[in-house]
Amino acid sequence: MAGDAVTERGNWGSKMAFIFAASGSAIGLGSIWRFPLYVGRHGGAVFVLTYIIAVIFIGFTVMLAELAIGRHTQSNPVGAYKFIKPNSQWKLLGYLGVVTGVFILSYYSVIAGWAAGYLYKTVIGAFRHLGAMGGAETWATSDRIFKKFAADPLQMIICLFVIIFLTSFVISRGVKSGIERWSKILMPFLFALIVFLAIRALTLPGAGKGLAFFLNPDFSKMTPAVILNAVGQAFFSLSLGMGTMLTYGSYISKKDNLVTSAGWVCFSTTLIAVLAGFIIFPTLFATPGLSPETFEAETGLMFQVLPITISKLPGGYVFGILFFILLLIAALTSTISMLEVPTAFLVDERKWSRKKAAVIIGIVAFFFGIPAALSNGGVKILTKWNLMVRMDQVFGTIALAVGALLISIFVAYVWKAKNAAGEIMLGNTSFRIRPVWMFCIRFVAPVTILIVLVIIVYGLF
Ligand code: TRP
Repeated sequence: MAGDAVTERGNWGSKMAFIFAASGSAIGLGSIWRFPLYVGRHGGAVFVLTYIIAVIFIGFTVMLAELAIGRHTQSNPVGAYKFIKPNSQWKLLGYLGVVTGVFILSYYSVIAGWAAGYLYKTVIGAFRHLGAMGGAETWATSDRIFKKFAADPLQMIICLFVIIFLTSFVISRGVKSGIERWSKILMPFLFALIVFLAIRALTLPGAGKGLAFFLNPDFSKMTPAVILNAVGQAFFSLSLGMGTMLTYGSYISKKDNLVTSAGWVCFSTTLIAVLAGFIIFPTLFATPGLSPETFEAETGLMFQVLPITISKLPGGYVFGILFFILLLIAALTSTISMLEVPTAFLVDERKWSRKKAAVIIGIVAFFFGIPAALSNGGVKILTKWNLMVRMDQVFGTIALAVGALLISIFVAYVWKAKNAAGEIMLGNTSFRIRPVWMFCIRFVAPVTILIVLVIIVYGLF
């Protein structure tokens, strides 16, 4: 079964195609919207530092593990655990991934919808007055535009629908023509534009304080919450813990080098996140009337700040449009990868057609997304519950951490680290960091994640 599934399921065209698609999955709102948000909430540079350490020692380790399972089993998450450990409860870990994927897709699409709405707003010139303003008025205006938009139920639901529709459409057309084509062309453009915007933000008068907030760690701000959320952010931004990379790994050729592929994905994602920070914080601190206390509780930080950066550019109108187009595409290459997990599951295990699976899960995610879409001012009670932020905590941090913990235990002790290493070595016979990886997958990753989860449970009661 596994054999002929390979041809039916399709494969990446080349190693580069995989790196682009996997980076396309990883790079998205996680790096550009969520990372600065968490940096702002959790003490600035200490968070950045913890995040980078988490990416290197835990994120990279778990990514390699997921890719190895995927390529070894040529399967979706549920099928993969069944293949390696038949007749066991490990398949539940696959189901956890499928369910987590649907929930993350639902609220993530709300934010992706903001990007779509902001593209529209930029086109109609909603931000054109910002450039001429000075002082505290700039932030107040940008903030007002955002809050009014996020609180409009109709606009929120339309934007959500557009995102889910586009995602289902691409997924229903299959791996090669769908994901690959989208990811390959536009990533380099996004990167160039972000570098450009970062340079502008860094040269604003007063940018230095923002840079210090972002890069100069104040260790008195280091708390368990910082570690938890930095580890969670590493999983979120690298698309780990629910089987996305496992599923993408199942389309990789045996000849490809998983180690360098994983390395590139981790590196490019972290680079984009850091560059996004170089845009957001210098702009924030260069805008009068703002301090970390002002923005700590915001959910749309990037959306409130970016129009200000862009308004400070000559030709800002065009740059604004370009930026939101690229952000939208970056978000879509991520939503596509989330939908791919439940779709691959239904296609492989339940023998649904791709189209049916993509459409039905799209509809489910749309309905779960509606309450999240209405929780930023749209409906009072949902806003009071802070529903979207809670969904992000439960699915985007906790469920991913639980998933990643179980994946590392599975690989290290059930499949056995040396067998996983064997799979990795098919495309990389030397695998020089093998002892380091084995140590990390057996001890560093599971122990750290476990401690972090215990902290959350402790924090909840
Ligand atoms: N990593 C993506 C981002 O940062 C989001 C994402 C895609 C994701 N697939 C995922 C997050 C799977 C968690 C799990 O925007």
